Amino acid sequence: MKISSFISLFFFLSIHIFPTYAQSQDDGARLYSHHCTLCHGNKGMGDGYIPMKLKGYPQTNLFDEQNAIDKESIIDVISRGFPNEDIIKFMPPWEQELTKEEISDLATFVLFLRSDTEAALRTLSKYTDKLDKTVRDGKIIFETRCALCHGKLGQGDGRMARIIKTPPPANLTRSILNPVQMRLIIKLGGQEVGRSPKMPPWGDFMTDNEVDAVVDFIDTLKD
Ligand code: HEC
Ligand code: HEC
Repeated sequence: MKISSFISLFFFLSIHIFPTYAQSQDDGARLYSHHCTLCHGNKGMGDGYIPMKLKGYPQTNLFDEQNAIDKESIIDVISRGFPNEDIIKFMPPWEQELTKEEISDLATFVLFLRSDTEAALRTLSKYTDKLDKTVRDGKIIFETRCALCHGKLGQGDGRMARIIKTPPPANLTRSILNPVQMRLIIKLGGQEVGRSPKMPPWGDFMTDNEVDAVVDFIDTLKD
């Protein structure tokens, strides 16, 4: 074998078998944009929708009052939730939903965010901007913005349903709203249409096309 083939084999192996640190930061950013921004925010500064809207919700700034500092303890918090009786119900454990590798990438990303904030936010914005501007796929929008309350299949059994009770997040598979009414509550939020303020308004965060896409997706969930 020629030496050049050895070299390319080496590069092939190093890229495909030993994922690089940069790759892990990037994967972590993508996972964070999907699973964590609704609480920790697009900047990790506790600027997520949920803590801003729910009264008495603990602050979720990843830079302040850090409890989990090294990689191991961060992995622990992400896997098992926050180790405090009062708070654990607010920081859900992820070990059932994400693989060990994904959780490790997320921990790498949290460390990246704390140590080289600007570079980390640049990496993250690749994914959050994409969600804001170009995603037309109702399923992805639903999973990132609605499932936490309404549940992955829209049955009203998302994790936040443990906290939001009167009324709980609606079971969308049984919704009797027509598409016009549905678009309205999604865009304006519950309060504006005389329903619960805990159903957030999405009009400023989603384009009309995105709202249409998510309404179409909800339609596929009905039995
Ligand atoms: C439903 C809201 C919610 C979601 C979703 C969520 N968290 Fe949290 N998280 C919290 C709360 C509340 C705390 C405890 C307050 C604090 O210390 O910031 C917390 C704490 C943490 C901490 C410990 C911070 C410290 O004190 O050192 C880490 C790390 C963390 N979360 C990472 C994540 C990651 C990564 C994800 C996505 C997989 C995620 N969280 C998703 C609410 C949430
Ligand atoms: C913070 C939790 C939360 C999030 C996130 C959330 N919702 Fe809701 N949603 C609620 C609650 C609570 C209700 C019940 C309001 C009521 O009955 O007054 C509701 C009601 C609804 C309804 C009315 C259903 C009916 O038949 O009455 C629709 C449609 C809906 N949500 C769609 C969405 C969509 C689409 C998203 C994501 C873009 C979303 N929701 C995100 C909490 C949430």
